Amino acid sequence: MSSLGLSGLGRLEGGIGAIGAHSHGAEWAELWPDTAAFEGNYLRRVGGVELSELIAAHGSPAYVLDLATVESRINQWKTALAAGAGVGETTIHYASKALPVVGVCAFMAQHGLHVDVASEGELAVALAAGIAPEHILVHGNNKSMELLAQSVEYGVGFIVIDSLDELHRLGALGQPATVLLRLTPGVVADTHEAVATAAEHQKFGLSIRYELAHAAVDLIRQYPQLDLAGLHLHIGSNIANKDNFIAGIGRVAAFAHDTRVAVRHLNLGGGLGVPYVPGAVVPSITDHVETLFEALDGAFPSVPHLMVEPGRSLVGTAGITVYSVGTVKDVGDVRFVSVDGGMSDNPRPAMYGAVHTMAPVHRIGGAESPTMRQVMVAGLHCESGDMLGQAALPADLRAGDLVASATTGAYTLSMSSNYNRVPRPVMVAVANGNHETWVRRETVADVIARDQLPQALKLVTRLAD
Ligand SMILES: Cc1ncc(COP(=O)(O)O)c(C=O)c1O
Repeated sequence: MSSLGLSGLGRLEGGIGAIGAHSHGAEWAELWPDTAAFEGNYLRRVGGVELSELIAAHGSPAYVLDLATVESRINQWKTALAAGAGVGETTIHYASKALPVVGVCAFMAQHGLHVDVASEGELAVALAAGIAPEHILVHGNNKSMELLAQSVEYGVGFIVIDSLDELHRLGALGQPATVLLRLTPGVVADTHEAVATAAEHQKFGLSIRYELAHAAVDLIRQYPQLDLAGLHLHIGSNIANKDNFIAGIGRVAAFAHDTRVAVRHLNLGGGLGVPYVPGAVVPSITDHVETLFEALDGAFPSVPHLMVEPGRSLVGTAGITVYSVGTVKDVGDVRFVSVDGGMSDNPRPAMYGAVHTMAPVHRIGGAESPTMRQVMVAGLHCESGDMLGQAALPADLRAGDLVASATTGAYTLSMSSNYNRVPRPVMVAVANGNHETWVRRETVADVIARDQLPQALKLVTRLAD
């Protein structure tokens, strides 16, 4: 990371001012990395790096992560948490599921963050990044025995209990562990149903209404080696409505009061959204943390240690994906621009109907089109639903041109697949005019490496006999 020279952030080229000149205005700027530099309608540089040169060096498509933006979001969280009154220590656990990459976790640790993991793979990423086990928090609604065993063996900081079954499994290991209970407060967050995680009748957490949480408090007494250190709440992801957070905190506080659980550690999860389209109304990190503090005020007798687990709000707008244009097809009035990626590198549009804003990338030495037109940007996969979205792109867009999709730092690489056996893109970190591969591009050989030619079964021709 130090090779990227992030220390001199003041010298970064092309800051917000550069975007301000863009014809779309300030609302547009919020969607892109802080260092995004536009020329007219064209995105030219991120982190001081010419995107067309980056693609020449690393190939297309590429996830590009702007470290200055990540650092700025980290600092916003830290400053906002430090301003809050009435709580003791505060810790930010980076929710690594948003972008579970060794380099990213190492960057977070370098900035003093701890890490939350939700699988053996994410635990391995955190450990490979050099995260101290006591700075790791383990999540999951169906943690494998292997994950539980590794968690106690490494001595992770916290295991977040999600069910009574899991409490029995962890207890049966007979080893000491510090646990938080993940409560389900019955709050329906204003977000896509697939990422609303605190309503009744969904798979996460211990329901307060159905007294699973109360049962967990009783059950844990059977396992004296387990230290019930506090409570956990995560109401969902990509949320802009502050009332959802306030309601969740109120219900957790009421539960703590009713059950007299001593809350030494209170974890309020993640969930703050980021803007995906111009004009989207999303609270700033500062406003969001103020909301959390307002809701906490007087709700608990004391909060010695407050934890948060942001993912999307740390990395979402720091990332873009750059694609190369291939086929351009006019079907009546509709122009389809097909690019060299799609639902395999960003399943969000196909999965959630999510919208990502797109812009053309500056053509080095090439003329810029005076006119833009509305097009459908299509992926290369074998589904009509593989559309990355509508975009205003140059009327003369042609094969080989580059386009960038905004706000792809969170939940794109981490949810990517090999549909159609397409290799996954490279991930390149940029800062101060430097670029570095943090996840190498997959090859077709990588993609088919686990397949095996039939051996014993190759002679079976009639399985039904
Ligand atoms: C338990 C938990 N904590 C934190 C997060 C991070 O959420 P976000 O990326 O919305 O901040 C998630 C993701 O939904 C989660 O499941």
